[in-house]
Amino acid sequence: MRTIFIVSLLAVPIILVVLRQPLEESTITTGDRIQNAGYSYESYDIYTEDGYGLTIFRVKNSTSTKAEGDSRSSTASPTAPVVLLMHGLSSSSDIWVIEGLSNPLVYDLVNQGYDVWLGNNRGNRYGNRHLNMTSNDRHFWSFSIHEIGTLDLPRIIDFILEHTQQPSLHYVGYSQGTTVGFIMLSMRPEYNHKLKSISMLSPCVIMIHGSSPTRHLARFLGIYTPIHSYIGDSALFRPWIIRKLLGFEMCRSKDANAKICSFIIFKLFGGYSAYLDESLLPDIFNTHPTTASAHQILHLMQFHHTKKFIQYNHGPEVNQKRYNQSTPPEYNLSNINPRFPIHLFYSGYDEYIAPKDIAMLGKIMGNRTREHFIDLENFSHIDFVWASNIKEVINRPLLDIINEAEMVLQTEGKSPLKFDRKQQL
Ligand SMILES: *[C@@H]1O[C@H](CO)[C@@H](O)[C@H](O)[C@H]1NC(C)=O
Ligand SMILES: *[C@@H]1O[C@H](CO)[C@@H](O)[C@H](O)[C@H]1NC(C)=O
Ligand SMILES: *[C@@H]1O[C@H](CO)[C@@H](O)[C@H](O)[C@H]1NC(C)=O
Ligand SMILES: *[C@@H]1O[C@H](CO)[C@@H](O)[C@H](O)[C@H]1NC(C)=O
Ligand SMILES: *[C@@H]1O[C@H](CO)[C@@H](O)[C@H](O)[C@H]1NC(C)=O
Ligand SMILES: *[C@@H]1O[C@H](CO)[C@@H](O)[C@H](O)[C@H]1NC(C)=O
Repeated sequence: MRTIFIVSLLAVPIILVVLRQPLEESTITTGDRIQNAGYSYESYDIYTEDGYGLTIFRVKNSTSTKAEGDSRSSTASPTAPVVLLMHGLSSSSDIWVIEGLSNPLVYDLVNQGYDVWLGNNRGNRYGNRHLNMTSNDRHFWSFSIHEIGTLDLPRIIDFILEHTQQPSLHYVGYSQGTTVGFIMLSMRPEYNHKLKSISMLSPCVIMIHGSSPTRHLARFLGIYTPIHSYIGDSALFRPWIIRKLLGFEMCRSKDANAKICSFIIFKLFGGYSAYLDESLLPDIFNTHPTTASAHQILHLMQFHHTKKFIQYNHGPEVNQKRYNQSTPPEYNLSNINPRFPIHLFYSGYDEYIAPKDIAMLGKIMGNRTREHFIDLENFSHIDFVWASNIKEVINRPLLDIINEAEMVLQTEGKSPLKFDRKQQL
């Protein structure tokens, strides 16, 4: 009896240590990946108005940096039109530059002469700093997708525009990167003028008809309960033990079983893909899932459960204080007034977003959106960024959209730059 008691007493600290053992993140940054691909980069540390530190990246044509040196990198003279890419949930700027990707969008844009920036949101590996807290403080994790859309994204855009001395930029969002775009434009409509073309890859706005297994969780996680504020203020995917149990750690190895590791991706990240190159798996797991606040997932569950694009449900009391009503209000999509229609890229095999969801969104938005259906069997959620055929399916139409918007603005004299369209891809 006594020995068992002592042994279990000893086990407690060991278990606590294991549980708290933090995620050992890849030491290779987005910047390193860009360099390994033969390009160069700049990185900037910026702070949101509520104190979160975010690192964002700028991808450069390495030839031009070498040729022009510091005069170009630091004096921020207007150069080329800017494109900002925003990643999804539990992801980071790494998503665009995974090792082994064939033809990532980033380099196609740079090769066409665009000034490409990669954003990051609070809580991920490039957003784990705060002016007066550390990421070990529970309060650090007290944010949902709402704060990313209303604070992080506007700050990133303002920084880039100020730094490049440009009035507006092209926006490309993927998954949660689309959600934050819609949130920003509806909550802070003054940003409508700061975006040129807007391309949304797998738009997560109306999320009703998805078939992902995680939708079942929404039945109980999508409804507010008092434990929400408790479980919400925590870092998802940080504890090593959880990553280990879910197989994320194992799949970081090049020797891991590719079938099992792809299965994990398909189950958790939006469906079976016929376009995933298995050689990407180790680096996908080296970089994904990165840390996020549990409130972000709860927020998505609330979209699904309420069938509405709605602000975060903090519970009746806090809602009353924040929203002056006991339930959260919907985001007001009427505030979205883009210069060009927002381009919605979707497929029939994305388990998070069904064509019906896009049809509903399109109906609300009218001529403010334009739909691009990717008519390929088994083209799923991850394929919008990682598919082996991304060059034809995504990059090419996206470049056409951006080039076309740029031509229109320049003809109108609204883009101050003399931008010569480079050779078509
Ligand atoms: C940190 O500062 C913010 C305002 O910038 C404040 O709301 C928050 O309570 C502070 N947090 C801590 C832990 O002091
Ligand atoms: C990269 O920079 C070099 C040198 O300035 C220039 O000749 C080349 O056209 C640039 N490439 C692109 C795609 O802008
Ligand atoms: C809150 O709502 C009530 C009734 O819905 C309204 O009378 C009041 O003016 C609102 N207060 C604020 C600060 O908006
Ligand atoms: C939504 O915004 C539009 C104009 O942007 C406004 O007329 C309308 O009253 C708003 N709706 C709500 C529910 O606030
Ligand atoms: C939608 O149509 C209205 C009315 O014709 C027009 O003013 C507006 O510019 C259009 N919006 C877009 C994004 O094309
Ligand atoms: C799509 O996936 C299904 C189920 O895994 C499979 O039966 C079918 O052959 C696949 N089709 C293509 C074109 O990959």
